[in-house]
Amino acid sequence: MVHPSSPWRALDKNCARCHQAGPSLQRQKPAKNFGNVLALDEIARDPDLILPGNPDGSGLFTQIAKKDMPYDCYQEFDCEAEPTEEDVKAVYDWIKGLGDTITAVCGVVRRLTRRRSSRQSPRLSTRRRR
Ligand code: HEC
Repeated sequence: MVHPSSPWRALDKNCARCHQAGPSLQRQKPAKNFGNVLALDEIARDPDLILPGNPDGSGLFTQIAKKDMPYDCYQEFDCEAEPTEEDVKAVYDWIKGLGDTITAVCGVVRRLTRRRSSRQSPRLSTRRRR
């Protein structure tokens, strides 16, 4: 069972109708070709959407925080319910918490970046090391 304030539930309630491909989509195609909002592990790896540990730098969160999204609520002023404070917090806390995961797998990342060193700039791997 999904906890009421889980980020998945918040995104399902507020975003999936336009950004999740599948039966619950209320458009012909996902908006802006962003159609996997419920695949949390996928979006967590997309730096255009999520910067793990940094909600305020994450495109997905700032869209909500600035009240750009959900599009229907804030641009068309026509939606069933705006995101609640609890929804916003659930997404914030999730992104924040992803930073801890990154620290935990830091050793693995270091090994991977070493192995792929030809493709990864040394500056980037230095920055990621904490
Ligand atoms: C009613 C449909 C609708 C809902 C609901 C909705 N969006 Fe959007 N979303 C759009 C549209 C339309 C655009 C493109 C807007 C534009 O280009 O100005 C967009 C664009 C975006 C983008 C930018 C994508 C890019 O590649 O530039 C992000 C991020 C985003 N939405 C996140 C969200 C999040 C998070 C939620 C839920 C809190 C949400 N959206 C809810 C319709 C929606």
